[in-house]
Amino acid sequence: MPDRRHTPRPNPDHRRSDADRLERSDRSDRPAARSHHKKPPLRIQPTTLWEYPSQDYGDSHQGIPGYKGATPSYIIWNLLQRYTEPGELVVDPCCGSGTTLDVARDLGRRALGYDVHPKRKDIFRVDARKLPPELTGKVDFVFIDPPYSTHLDYGDDPRDLGKLSARSGEYYPAMRDVFVEILRVLKPGRAMGLYVSDSYEHRSGKGTFHPIGFELFRIMLDIGFEPIDIVSVVRHNRTLEMGNYRKAAEEGNYFLRGFNYLFIMRKPSPPRPTH
Ligand SMILES: C[S@@+](CC[C@H](N)C(=O)[O-])C[C@H]1O[C@@H](n2cnc3c(N)ncnc32)[C@H](O)[C@@H]1O
Repeated sequence: MPDRRHTPRPNPDHRRSDADRLERSDRSDRPAARSHHKKPPLRIQPTTLWEYPSQDYGDSHQGIPGYKGATPSYIIWNLLQRYTEPGELVVDPCCGSGTTLDVARDLGRRALGYDVHPKRKDIFRVDARKLPPELTGKVDFVFIDPPYSTHLDYGDDPRDLGKLSARSGEYYPAMRDVFVEILRVLKPGRAMGLYVSDSYEHRSGKGTFHPIGFELFRIMLDIGFEPIDIVSVVRHNRTLEMGNYRKAAEEGNYFLRGFNYLFIMRKPSPPRPTH
């Protein structure tokens, strides 16, 4: 049974305004106000702009209902449809509530999930920077939705990447270590998806924008990934529709995060021998 006691808590930072706290921390794409909407049918997205105004597809849940910070499951469904075949091995190094495991199993793929705060028995307590050595070159697809700097407090484990700040710079080398591990475990020629958002930090009236997406994309290129494509995913966070958050963004002349990046990358295949 999933352990529902350990829902991530918003990071306590008393210096932030309410609007800022929510802008940075409400990553849930579970639009409670939209729950009366009929879920749209799942289909393979043909463009680089994806939108699905529901957390789950079908009649059941993927991941743990109510988990704050869950990845909308249609994103993983779309990636697995395009980049994997039934029976292949999918890994999620920051597995959270296990959305990737549920989608992969729905589609007949094998799946392994790791997290420093495992919420289910089928998620192993492993640091994404030290994936099991026996996985080298064995994995067909990796999906990862990591902490976006210090947006959310996921728990007490000091290895939590969500305790590392983009502002101080300590977040980026840690994420580089994660990408190096993903590159190691992937089979050559196979793909990975990184779901991530930029961040705007609003402190004492002076905001700082952190282009987390661009920084992580650059690091992935740097260590040897090849880009397949970049998708923009429309966010349906409740705060985006709340008048006080919209007003604060207008008055403070900053933007609420309206989309997430989905970077789709490939581990290069070795060059063919020339004769
Ligand atoms: C955005 S959540 C993942 C959500 C997940 N895709 C889902 O749908 O439920 C990020 C996860 O990364 C985990 N995490 C943070 N640091 C980690 C690390 N060093 N190694 C593995 N997991 C880590 C957190 O505990 C959290 O569960």
